[in-house]
Amino acid sequence: MIRLEKLKKRELPSHVALILDGNGRWAKRRGRNRQYGHRQGALNVKTIAIEANRIGIEVLSVYAFSTENWKRPQKEIDFLMKMPKSFEEESSDDIHDSDIRIVFSGRRDRIDHYNRGLMEKLEERTKDNGGMILNICFDYGSRDEIVNVVKRVAKKVKKGSMSIDAIDESTIEEHLYTKGLPSVDLLIRTSGEQRLSNYLLWQNAYAEFCFTKRPWPAFKEKHLRKAVYDYQNRNRRFGGLKG
Ligand code: IPE
Ligand code: IPE
Ligand code: MG
Repeated sequence: MIRLEKLKKRELPSHVALILDGNGRWAKRRGRNRQYGHRQGALNVKTIAIEANRIGIEVLSVYAFSTENWKRPQKEIDFLMKMPKSFEEESSDDIHDSDIRIVFSGRRDRIDHYNRGLMEKLEERTKDNGGMILNICFDYGSRDEIVNVVKRVAKKVKKGSMSIDAIDESTIEEHLYTKGLPSVDLLIRTSGEQRLSNYLLWQNAYAEFCFTKRPWPAFKEKHLRKAVYDYQNRNRRFGGLKG
């Protein structure tokens, strides 16, 4: 187990993004249904968020439901749409008590009225918390996000409130769902897949990647610490010649 003090001695990643994959396979291996995996997976978000906050990470993004996940069987979608409620009931108090602020990234127009209200309530309740930001990506897809950016910027140009020449990288950043959040420093994907699955494509431009075979419900505090420790031993050059 890597001790906290050891991690704190070196530069920490400001933004860690998690692709919490493998809930279904984890449950199946235990002879349980996929829903059990999703429940344990949701509970694990709390455990890992509290640990990330303790380490001193500023932003933890978690991929909870992708724009592509609507392709799943309706029964599974229905279950996944109950996750915000379970999260509110079982995790939000502890998260709030840890001074963590919750924000959601993604489309809201396809989320039902009840869940939208719940998301707004969680954001509102935790908005003055000064600890880590827990960014929950829900009905999130990076390509959808970028299309949305292009439309909103194009509208401003058409209206005359922005000139084409004034468009730069910061213009794009300001129109992303993740507006105000730093770029991803460390991307972790559980369960052995080595792909981004449409997650934070712009934000991950210079992220360090960590792929682990461990399924999400089995990814615990010590595994997060190890991933951060490994990150601290990477040589980030950003195109330059550092180190
Ligand atoms: C991740 O687990 C959770 C979501 C994508 C909502 P999966 O449901 O993808 O689990 P596997 O990958 O099928 O095991
Ligand atoms: C990525 O996992 C999306 C989330 C974790 C929410 P998936 O299980 O949906 O990804 P693919 O289909 O294996 O790429
Ligand atoms: Mg999966």
